[in-house]
Amino acid sequence: KRLVLIGPPGSGKGTQSPIIKDEYCLCHLATGDMLRAAVSAKTPLGIKAKEAMDKGELVSDDLVVGIIDEAMKKPSCEKGFILDGFPRTVVQAQKLDEMLQKQGTKIDKVLNFAIDDSILEERITGRWIHPSSGRTYHTKFAPPKVQGVDDVTGEPLIQRKDDTPEVLKSRLEAFHKQTEPVIDYYAKKGVVAELHAEKPQKDVTAEVQKVLTS
Ligand code: AP5
Ligand code: ZN
Repeated sequence: KRLVLIGPPGSGKGTQSPIIKDEYCLCHLATGDMLRAAVSAKTPLGIKAKEAMDKGELVSDDLVVGIIDEAMKKPSCEKGFILDGFPRTVVQAQKLDEMLQKQGTKIDKVLNFAIDDSILEERITGRWIHPSSGRTYHTKFAPPKVQGVDDVTGEPLIQRKDDTPEVLKSRLEAFHKQTEPVIDYYAKKGVVAELHAEKPQKDVTAEVQKVLTS
């Protein structure tokens, strides 16, 4: 399966991805995670991306298209992939179509994590992550067994630098202006499935499974 996950910050893309990934043996390509790794390693890519990310703005199309093009060459992506946080502009969606056309494939389904903006601040400000694995927790909705500590490794959890109410505002603005048109782009192709992303995590997982088996 070749899947795209679209939704605003905090809508649950990163939470549902590992579940889908394991069930269908797909590779999970999250541009946000890849960019954050590049920023913390201070690679040339990370240095270019940092300023936009800190402000909650989108990184340039060329940079992210380059990362995805490279990442999709991995053998583990041949069977299928989950794109989490990409494409986020219509230009990115067009470039992705071109890449897939060359391989004779296309996107099978786009999962639209539909949710009201008002719910997202609580989701974002309560989020804690384990950076090396990408595991995500929430102080209220998905607390770790021990506060501030990863359940699996016992390593400390951190909060993302852009998870503040101020930066969330710019991220939401970028979503409505630049990413919502991508949903229309795919809707015209008839591949969009809408999820009720405001529901509890387990219910969203059930909806995802229903869509993917139908
Ligand atoms: P990115 O990392 O993609 O961030 P985002 O899109 O803002 O999405 P989030 O990761 O914040 O949300 P999520 O949907 O994954 O939520 P999660 O599942 O963790 O991008 C970061 C930055 O990188 C961008 O701002 C941009 O600068 C740059 N960038 C990335 N891709 C780019 C691109 N293609 N082009 C240009 N720039 C790009 O859930 C959130 C919290 O809620 C968690 O704590 C979780 O436990 C909890 N939760 C999840 N589901 C539920 C539920 N159903 N009920 C209750 N709580 C829940
Ligand atoms: Zn995410």
